[in-house]
Amino acid sequence: MTVTETGNSLTIVDNRTGKSYEVPVENGSINTMELRKIKVSEEDFGLLGYDPGYLNTASCKSRITYIDGDKGILRYRGYPIEQLAEKSTFLETAYLLIKGELPDKERLAVWTYNIRHHTMTHNNIVKFMDGFRYDAHPMGILVGTVGALSTFYRDAKDIGSEDSRKLQVRRLIGKIPTLAAMSFRHSMGFPYVMPDNDLSYAGNFLSMMFKMTELRYKPNPVLERALDVLFILHADHEQNCSTSSLRAVASSGVDPFSAIAAGCAALYGPLHGGANEAVIRMLMKIGSIDKIPEFIQSVKDGDGRLMGFGHRVYKNYDPRAKIIKDIAFEVFEETGRNPMLDIALELERIALEDDYFVSRKLYPNVDFYSGLIYQAMGFPMDMFPVLFAIGRIPGWLAQWIEHVKDGEQKIARPRQIYLGEDERQFVAMADRPKTRLDEQMAGICRL
Ligand code: CMC
Repeated sequence: MTVTETGNSLTIVDNRTGKSYEVPVENGSINTMELRKIKVSEEDFGLLGYDPGYLNTASCKSRITYIDGDKGILRYRGYPIEQLAEKSTFLETAYLLIKGELPDKERLAVWTYNIRHHTMTHNNIVKFMDGFRYDAHPMGILVGTVGALSTFYRDAKDIGSEDSRKLQVRRLIGKIPTLAAMSFRHSMGFPYVMPDNDLSYAGNFLSMMFKMTELRYKPNPVLERALDVLFILHADHEQNCSTSSLRAVASSGVDPFSAIAAGCAALYGPLHGGANEAVIRMLMKIGSIDKIPEFIQSVKDGDGRLMGFGHRVYKNYDPRAKIIKDIAFEVFEETGRNPMLDIALELERIALEDDYFVSRKLYPNVDFYSGLIYQAMGFPMDMFPVLFAIGRIPGWLAQWIEHVKDGEQKIARPRQIYLGEDERQFVAMADRPKTRLDEQMAGICRL
């Protein structure tokens, strides 16, 4: 097959048949359904695109987040991440992602009020929270409890109603920190803390996590702001593994709580939102600066990965990693330096000079330093992916709404290339060849 591009179309010549096809090019892409017209015979199904892991397949048209991986650019609704991290708040950024524009003062106040008044959960949640084992991973608890919220809000099934969608958005952004904090307190055996709606979004979360016997929890303003910025940095990242999973699940028409539970499940994995936890475990395993060369060599020999390095899209640097590194130093001013910071800094320095990492364009990603910050703030490692999930909720919701309103979307249903057996006839058990187990069983029965 030969392909030439002229004007706004491709001319594809199928060398198997000599036939030529015109395929329109729109937004730098072709609709792969056009390939189905390319057949060797009438009965032929038509040509498929094969793309495991979706390395070169766009699954939607989106207006939410723009990434240029080669230049290290990340923008939400056109606004550079660096400006949002410096000047915005998490709830304002959530508004921007979901509604498309920055709010005016009044809209932001109403938005904030609405989310704050959805922070409590039904008391039955406490019952099944208590049903989890004491050592249950909080991310597993989050997957379960977010999904279970769909049973409390049956109206969430009405995904075609804009009013219903608005309500579920408030509920989800409001309740996720409450569920997250409950999962932590459950694992510690501490009583659950009610939301304090006079605190900021991040401040209230810190209160629900760490409040003990004091009447009122007063968050440290530096840590509160740092957490808010970390949430902003995680708020969306276009069609990553969890967002694509969420969109695929939502394409069946299910309610947003179930779809977001699918997003959380995808985020749980160590190659995605679980990487921040994996980074700390890796730093602990390395243990000291003098062990770094040995560790780097083991990675190069194929024994595991340098966690917190590499990204499917960023091939120059991850702009979030730069901001996070600065936040790390601000937080350590308050909390004291995380002893593993020196190992991380040296690991980064050595890796960035090593041809293995340079030639593969592997740079620190968002997870490389975030775990060190979370740890210094007092979050246990198991909570790290949960913190990622709290930040990602507005992005998932924005993507869900865009998906539901997109008339071009259909139920997600990829094709496969079948390489299995051709048709064959069923063989009755008595006629199948005897196995060693059969012989042994026959021997046992004879005894
Ligand atoms: N350490 C060592 N080698 C690596 C790493 C790494 N962290 N990442 C990629 N490589 C190598 C990989 O072995 C392969 O080498 P070769 O060409 O010799 O086979 C090459 O680089 C390309 O790797 P890939 O697996 O094809 O790249 P990918 O785009 O499919 O994977 C990634 C992206 C993020 C899954 C991967 O870089 C990785 O596993 N990183 C570590 C986990 C991590 O930090 N994940 C957090 C990602 S950022 C947060 C988020 O959005 O979830």
